[in-house]
Amino acid sequence: MQTTDQPLSGKVAIVTGAGKGIGQAIAQAYARAGAAVCCAARMVADLHETVQAIVAAGGQGLAVPTDVTQLAAVQQMVQVTVETFGGLDILVINAGVSGEGRSVEDSHPEAWRTTLEVNLLGAYYCAQAAIPMLKQRGAGKIITVGSGLGHRGLAETSAYACSKAGLWMLTRVLAQELSPYNISVNELIPGPVVTSMTGTQATQHRGVFAIAGEWAKIPADVVPLALFLATQPPIGPTAQSFSLMRRDA
Ligand SMILES: NC(=O)c1ccc[n+]([C@@H]2O[C@H](COP(=O)([O-])OP(=O)(O)OC[C@H]3O[C@@H](n4cnc5c(N)ncnc54)[C@H](OP(=O)(O)O)[C@@H]3O)[C@@H](O)[C@H]2O)c1
Repeated sequence: MQTTDQPLSGKVAIVTGAGKGIGQAIAQAYARAGAAVCCAARMVADLHETVQAIVAAGGQGLAVPTDVTQLAAVQQMVQVTVETFGGLDILVINAGVSGEGRSVEDSHPEAWRTTLEVNLLGAYYCAQAAIPMLKQRGAGKIITVGSGLGHRGLAETSAYACSKAGLWMLTRVLAQELSPYNISVNELIPGPVVTSMTGTQATQHRGVFAIAGEWAKIPADVVPLALFLATQPPIGPTAQSFSLMRRDA
């Protein structure tokens, strides 16, 4: 039964990149809202910290160490979640890396490839593995964590911006493919959030933190929008991009 306090009661969610930052905040919030949450990332210690906090607060969490660039590991992540919690309702594709801050001319091809592999190919793997399980439930949500840089671009962010532009297009295509199954697919754009990805002074001078007048958030500030997207009715928004930025996307 759903209650106002626990609108995700009875739901099962996977959050990738749940070991820290935005993914950790979303995983813990979904658990507080009543969902059983599979927390996935590579660093086991980070995952255990996330799950310990969930369990200490009376929620249900499961740590599943996963590298989203490995298809077999992603398939295993979905399988273990379904075996443990009985199904899957919500997938948050959040795991990401920032890539190197270099011009295309100065960039390293391997770094470029790695950024695309985590942010875009990993997202595709997660969606592909989850879709059959979401269909089995008769409804579901996929939330991709995108970036304004994937909409407007910025010098010296080519790999990241291109990976997020691809993620936005994957969001749109998935939404069209999955609409007949009551599965909505939307992009959440956090805007600048202080995390390990952006949290050093050396990196904050570039990218989203360089935009004057922007709202520099903490991960908890992203939670209300993540909850909103997870709790919309099946007829609700799909193929949309929801941004917490103050201007543009
Ligand atoms: N912070 C911002 O200002 C901002 C703005 C716009 C969009 N975003 C997006 O928000 C998402 C979360 O970013 P964040 O700022 O919270 O970063 P973060 O604190 O660095 O967290 C990133 C998470 O992704 C995981 N991850 C990285 N590579 C992975 C892989 N190959 N397989 C599985 N998990 C992996 C990391 O864990 P492991 O290293 O242990 O795997 C970590 O848990 C990203 O997609 C990012 O692009 C962030």
